[in-house]
Amino acid sequence: MSVRHFLTLLDLSPDELNAVIRRASELKNLRNAGQRPLIFRNRVLAMVFAKSSTRTRMSFETAMIEGGGGAIFLSPRDTQLGRGEPIADSARVLSRMCDAIMVRTFSHRDIEEFAEHSRVPVINGLSDSFHPLQILADMQTYFEHRGDIAGRKVAWVGDGNNMCNSYINAAQQFGFSLSVATPAGYEPSSLAAGGGLASIELSNDPREAVKGADLVVTDVWASMGQEQESTRRHEIFREFQVNSDLLRKAHPDVLFMHCLPAHRGEEVSAELIDHPDSVVWDEAENRLHAQKALLEMLVCRSGN
Ligand code: CP
Ligand code: NVA
Repeated sequence: MSVRHFLTLLDLSPDELNAVIRRASELKNLRNAGQRPLIFRNRVLAMVFAKSSTRTRMSFETAMIEGGGGAIFLSPRDTQLGRGEPIADSARVLSRMCDAIMVRTFSHRDIEEFAEHSRVPVINGLSDSFHPLQILADMQTYFEHRGDIAGRKVAWVGDGNNMCNSYINAAQQFGFSLSVATPAGYEPSSLAAGGGLASIELSNDPREAVKGADLVVTDVWASMGQEQESTRRHEIFREFQVNSDLLRKAHPDVLFMHCLPAHRGEEVSAELIDHPDSVVWDEAENRLHAQKALLEMLVCRSGN
């Protein structure tokens, strides 16, 4: 059986994605009832982090520990990857010793190369182009608060970044319509590449994008690796802040999401993060449950 990787949301079918989300809620309910099934007994996850992380690292390590396995944190700073050992060689070696490998890095191509040379599933823990793990948690959160997202309207406001690209994939896989509002010149790259089959609207007008939306999502204006553009981006993105005033244009039952970390007063107003329409803390918690369910599907059920 060939190895299943999770590099973008398109690597799983819509049915598989929905199964992961259902299982995530099931594992969450079990945990809330005091049960932590040992689904990863003696399994090892290697985690390669070339960028900072709080949620992704914490959720994966916790998932593996609670499931009876272990996770190993590897940084290019103190592995041979940082001294020029090729990605292909690193993938070959790591994958002979562990059951799955999570990679967070800059170029998406690096993760693809890792996967090409790995004997075990490779999971994209965020690249410059995509952040599919966050979408699993976001979809679980939407389902838990409002039910099925199919047929709903989602608005993305801000930078057409890695999260936005993954929302474009999600629109296709989960069957919602997506309105993307970015400043001119900051459109998502995956639309240029075709964007899939979903219903996606692109504009430069946040008010138009959020009109009637069931879910409004934003993210930082300068992602990791773009720190030097931060000042210029703050000028350009000023009109794209998501706040309660903007949310009033959305559906009365709208939810607000942000993958975090958030910059209060920049892409999101301070008051909105803690507003009842905001589900950002549930989103963050669901990283744990969604990634347990994903690992279980990739590592424990497919013969990998
Ligand atoms: N949302 C997210 O991926 O957070 P971290 O960068 O803290 O992992
Ligand atoms: N777009 C952000 C997401 C962080 C989780 C970044 O890439 O820095």
